[in-house]
Amino acid sequence: MPATVMVGTQWGDEGKGKFTDLVAKEMHLVVRYQGGHNAGHTLVVDGQSFALQLCPSGILYDHITPVIGNGVVVDPRVLIAEMDMLIERGVDPSRLRLSGNAHLILPYHQELDRLIERRLGSRKLGTTKRGIGPTYADKASRVGIRVQDLLDPDIFRAKLELLAREKNAVLAKVFNQLPLDPHEIAAEYLEICAPRLAPHIADTVTLVHEALERGENVLFEGAQATFLDLDHGTYPFVTSSNPVAGGVCTGAGVGPRYIDRVIGVAKAYVTRVGTGPFPTELAISTEAIGGKPAEHADQEEIRLGDHFVEVGREYGTVTGRRRRPGWFDAVMLRQAVRLNSLSELAITKLDILDGLDTVKVCVAYDVNGERVTHLPYHQSDLHAAVPVYEELPGWKTPVASVTAGDQLPPEAEAYLAFLESQVGVPVTLVGVGPGREQFVQRGAASR
Ligand code: GDP
Ligand code: IMO
Ligand code: MG
Repeated sequence: MPATVMVGTQWGDEGKGKFTDLVAKEMHLVVRYQGGHNAGHTLVVDGQSFALQLCPSGILYDHITPVIGNGVVVDPRVLIAEMDMLIERGVDPSRLRLSGNAHLILPYHQELDRLIERRLGSRKLGTTKRGIGPTYADKASRVGIRVQDLLDPDIFRAKLELLAREKNAVLAKVFNQLPLDPHEIAAEYLEICAPRLAPHIADTVTLVHEALERGENVLFEGAQATFLDLDHGTYPFVTSSNPVAGGVCTGAGVGPRYIDRVIGVAKAYVTRVGTGPFPTELAISTEAIGGKPAEHADQEEIRLGDHFVEVGREYGTVTGRRRRPGWFDAVMLRQAVRLNSLSELAITKLDILDGLDTVKVCVAYDVNGERVTHLPYHQSDLHAAVPVYEELPGWKTPVASVTAGDQLPPEAEAYLAFLESQVGVPVTLVGVGPGREQFVQRGAASR
C-alpha cells in the first residue's frame, strides 16, 4: 500500500485535515501537491486545535516527513509564520521539506488577486485573496519565480526585475495603483525568508521516490476539492490548480501506477465558500457571499440551513467567511468517484445530522424537464438543475461518542449504506466529531 491520496470530493472544507492526520499515523511521508495558503486544514488533538495552511497535516507526528511538493504555490512569509506557530506550540517542523520547484507567491500576486476581484464587482469569484490565481498564471506564462531562486540572489533579482516591470505597469495602467518596490521585496525574500527556508529546500521528487522504493507509505494530501479543480470544477468558480487525484502526478512527480488507494473525503452534507453554482443549496437567515437569497425560501429550509451553519460551525478556517450549506449531493459524488477513481469514502460530520427528523440526499437533477443522474457537463444546465431528493429517517441518539461502526444508530447506518449504494464506493471512515479520536472505521470491530 505505498501511495494513498486523500482528496476533497465537494467544494472544500470536507475535513481532509482531520483524516490526513488520522491516516498519517501509518505513513512515512505526507505530501501536499497543489494549492497554497488558500487551504485551511483543521486538526483537533487532545482538545487543541491547529489550523494549517501550508504544512501537511501529518506534521504533528514525529515519525513523519512532511513535504510541500512542486505543485504548491508558497508565500514564504506565511510558511515561516506557520512554522513559528508550530514551534511555539511544541511541534518541531525541522523535518519539513519544500520543493525547490514550487512557485513563490509574491506581494504582486496578492495585490492583483485583490484588485481583480474588486474589478469583477458582483461577478467576483470570492477568492481567498491569497494570490493563488495570479501566481499559477505566471507559472503557466513561464515568468514565475521558484523557491530554488531564493538560493541564488542574482537570479532572483534578475527575474524579479523583469516581473516587477510588467506588474507595476499593470498596477498603474489597469488599476491606477502605486507600484510595489522590487528592492523591498527582494530584501524581505532574500535576506529574511531565504536563510530561514534554505535548510528545508529539497529535491522532493527524489525524496518521494526513494521512500516509495523503500516500500514506505506515502500519503498525498489534497487541498481544495474536486469541484474547485481548474479543469473539472464549476469553472470559472474554481481555484487555479488541480486538486483531483491526478494532480498528484504533476504536483508531486509520481506516475499514476504508484497510486493504489484514493480516499475521497465528503461531508455528510455539503458546503461551499465563495460564489458559483450549488444545486442542493439551502437558504440561511444571514448573508454568505454568493449564497441563496432567503426572501423566497420557506422557514423550514432556512431552519435547516441555519442548523448546518451554526451546529456545523461552518465558518472558513482561513478567511472566517460563512460557508453556504446544502444537502448531500450524490450526483456530484458520482462524478467525483470517476474523476479521482476513488477506492473509498471518508464521510465527515455525521454528528451534525444528529436530531434531524429526516435527512435528504440528492439522487438526480431535473434539468429543463429531463431527469439526469450524472453531472451535466454544460455549466448552464448545472445552474438550472433542480435536485431530486430521497428522504430518509433521521436519528435522535448522538453519534459523537460512538467508536465502532456497529454502534451507530440504525438510521445513521442506513444513511451511510444509502450513500454507498448511490455512489458505488464503500464508506470506510466516518467522522463523528472534530477530535482525532472521534471517528468510526466501518466494517471493523470496536477500538
Ligand atoms: P479541510 O479544509 O477539508 O481540512 O476542512 P476544514 O478544516 O476547513 O473544515 C472542517 C471542519 O470540520 C474543521 O473545523 C474540523 O475540525 C471539523 N470536523 C472535521 N471532521 C469533523 C466531524 O466528523 N465532526 C465535526 N463536528 N467536525 C468535524
Ligand atoms: P481547503 O483545502 C474551500 C475557494 C474560494 C473561492 C475559490 C477560488 O481548506 O478545503 P482561490 O483563493 O483559491 O483563488 O479561490 O476557491 N477555495 C476554497 N474553498 N476550501 C478551500 O480549501 C478553498 N480554497 C479555495 O473560496 O471560491
Ligand atoms: Mg478548509
